[in-house]
Amino acid sequence: MGCAKSTPKGEASVNPPRDALEILTDGQKDLLRTSWEAFRTEYVLTDGIQIYIHLFTVDPSAATLFSFVEEVSIEHLLTNEQLFGHVWSLLEYLDMAITHLDDLHYLRREAFDLGVRHSIYGVRNEQFQVSR
Ligand code: HEM
Repeated sequence: MGCAKSTPKGEASVNPPRDALEILTDGQKDLLRTSWEAFRTEYVLTDGIQIYIHLFTVDPSAATLFSFVEEVSIEHLLTNEQLFGHVWSLLEYLDMAITHLDDLHYLRREAFDLGVRHSIYGVRNEQFQVSR
């Protein structure tokens, strides 16, 4: 998730200056809110599942991190109720992020905590690139 930036000395920097977080214009925030509203009402769960089908196809080792994924086949994934539940958690997280676009300091703390939890789950940094 790229939560902590390295300084030249290699130290973690978790409190950058405020300006560093003022990275979205009001127009960009509006665009995010509008597109998220359309996405979550029209495509929400099926597109969420597609993210995981893509992730597990490109990187099968990612599937082993999920206790409820027994096999990486389209049939299994599309009928896996626990995976749907997981997709719902992901979508709720994204909804929270959109709701707090005006408070990037809060979002940064949330993202940092999520990154810590994912590190505990065993997710490697490069695996986040696949889900982009
Ligand atoms: C921006 C991308 C991602 C977001 C927003 C996200 C979000 C979440 C959320 C909200 C949860 C629910 C539990 C919690 O809050 O800690 C979760 C759990 C989890 N995520 Fe992610 N995730 C992302 C990417 C990934 C990737 C790339 C992987 C693996 C390669 C992954 C693996 C997991 C695993 C193993 C769990 C625990 C599942 C379980 O056993 O319940 N996540 N994620």
